[in-house]
Amino acid sequence: MAMIVRMGKWGRQTGWTVLVALCMWGQSMHTLAASVRIRFSHVVASQTPKGLAVERFKTTLEQRSQGRITVDIHPSAQLYNDREEMQALRLGAVEMLAPSLSKFGRMGFPEFEIFDLPFLFDSQDDVRRLTQGRLGQRLLERLGRQQMVGLGYLDNGFKHMSGRKPLLWPGDYAGVRMRVQSSLVIAAQMQALGAVPVVLDFSETRRALAAGVVDGTENPVSNFWTQGMADVQSDLTLSQHAYLGYAVVVGQPFWDSLAEADRQLIRQALNEALSYGNSIAAAENERALAALRASAKTRIHQLSPAQREALRQATAPAYGALARRIGSEWVEAAQQAAHKR
Ligand code: SIN
Repeated sequence: MAMIVRMGKWGRQTGWTVLVALCMWGQSMHTLAASVRIRFSHVVASQTPKGLAVERFKTTLEQRSQGRITVDIHPSAQLYNDREEMQALRLGAVEMLAPSLSKFGRMGFPEFEIFDLPFLFDSQDDVRRLTQGRLGQRLLERLGRQQMVGLGYLDNGFKHMSGRKPLLWPGDYAGVRMRVQSSLVIAAQMQALGAVPVVLDFSETRRALAAGVVDGTENPVSNFWTQGMADVQSDLTLSQHAYLGYAVVVGQPFWDSLAEADRQLIRQALNEALSYGNSIAAAENERALAALRASAKTRIHQLSPAQREALRQATAPAYGALARRIGSEWVEAAQQAAHKR
């Protein structure tokens, strides 16, 4: 720039032309970046809705980019556990993550805990109305405050309670130590039932159950089965009391470093992978349930309508507690989005 300022009019114009040409050349070179490597870390097994969707993302993206963009998947917390993975994203040690929606609260986004509200969703369609609507979009946009780009939502499924005994009525929870994710809504739900919530990383949960550090937990069956929790939990109650899903995020600096064409390629491959993941999630959970039944390792209980209603009423205080923390408009918007038919 300093050189251009000292030139005459003609020289300045030529200088600018050269500079613009150089920038354009630089940009097109950037578009043709020799290679892009995406390290995608997650904490669940490969044979889960998240594991399978991430595999699909890798295959599609690597094919479409003819191997120029590669995706290295690190499942089962091989690289980072729940607490470490966000820090790894911030430091650029990984490029992509898909944390459960419940874990965004601890990162400074308590509004994401609307997804944890007990008995909010009756079906996957209810979830879809929230994630695909304005509210879902608003939540993803908020992630920019912490240098993250939210690229989309992915289902696992509905959670069920497990323990060393059937957990059918609110009274069954008295004093039971339940492993929970780092969500204050989930903690409030357990407290409302008289249980003691214990926050543990997902990767530590099976061991903690085996050692008796905690007595029970809540999971979609796909996570329960693939973590081998059937070996350490005698009873699973199909309570379907709340939802577990994910937001796929990428670090902003990495995203900004990509050429627009590559961002589009990644978005497209990811959208297809998320549609695929969302289309198989329910079936994967059914498959896991069938395998669990066949193993006969864990007794499986159904809730009667009366038991379900009693649990719903007992956990209702979790709504007020969240509304006091984040504002009732978020909770009402979630209820509206979920129940608009
Ligand atoms: C996950 O599905 O990513 C883990 C959920 C959990 O921590 O329970």
